[in-house]
Amino acid sequence: MNKLVYAENYDGMSALAADMMVRIVRDNPRAVVVIATGGSPRLAYRIFCSRAKSEGIDVSGVTFVKLDEWLGLEPTDEATCEFFIRRELLDPLGISEDKFIHFDSLAPDAKAECARFRAEFDALPSVDLVTLGIGKNGHLGLNEPSDQLFTRAHTMELEAKTRTHEMLTHTGVNVTRGITMGLSEIFRGKEIMLLATGGEKAHLKDYLTDDRITTEAPFTLLKLHPGCTCFVDRTAF
Ligand code: PGA
Repeated sequence: MNKLVYAENYDGMSALAADMMVRIVRDNPRAVVVIATGGSPRLAYRIFCSRAKSEGIDVSGVTFVKLDEWLGLEPTDEATCEFFIRRELLDPLGISEDKFIHFDSLAPDAKAECARFRAEFDALPSVDLVTLGIGKNGHLGLNEPSDQLFTRAHTMELEAKTRTHEMLTHTGVNVTRGITMGLSEIFRGKEIMLLATGGEKAHLKDYLTDDRITTEAPFTLLKLHPGCTCFVDRTAF
């Protein structure tokens, strides 16, 4: 990765990630921030929310964009990225609906949903920060390992590993497909924050420090982005 910043543990990594979010939103109160979900960024978001309150940071003009979503779940299902983002960011920060761009987990026509998202995303004046985690299989958003990746928002058949993601543990629905931003949309971020943490990912460790890129581990493509900072939890990698 272009820029690797090591932290002793998950708490330390999350504090560094929250620092970056605070800096970007302070510098630009109208910032557009793409939001990954899952265990990797959860604590960073909680620290960010608590600092926004205690330091009086105005977040009312910030736009939040959902990176990806599981398909086939009610949006109110606790397993959805929708639920996660509302609980961890939008509700605690009091963000209004017009400042949230998102995929619909129950969209009846997935192609039309992708087209709708693309148009809304393209209309954004800038994308200031993209937050990302690494999948156990090396995926990025729900861009799954494959011999080909896609530039724009699209739907994906999920790998077996992804279908057992912790977020899906308590839903009764068998989730087999997802919808995700594509690589060029992710690359639109002026800055990217990649959080390297979580169990069962140590086999991906060498990719952080060597110079290989491969569509079989999509997060490696971030080595091509000059504004990507990777915060590494030493206990995981
Ligand atoms: P995690 O998920 O942050 O819960 O480890 C990351 C991912 O699957 O992309």
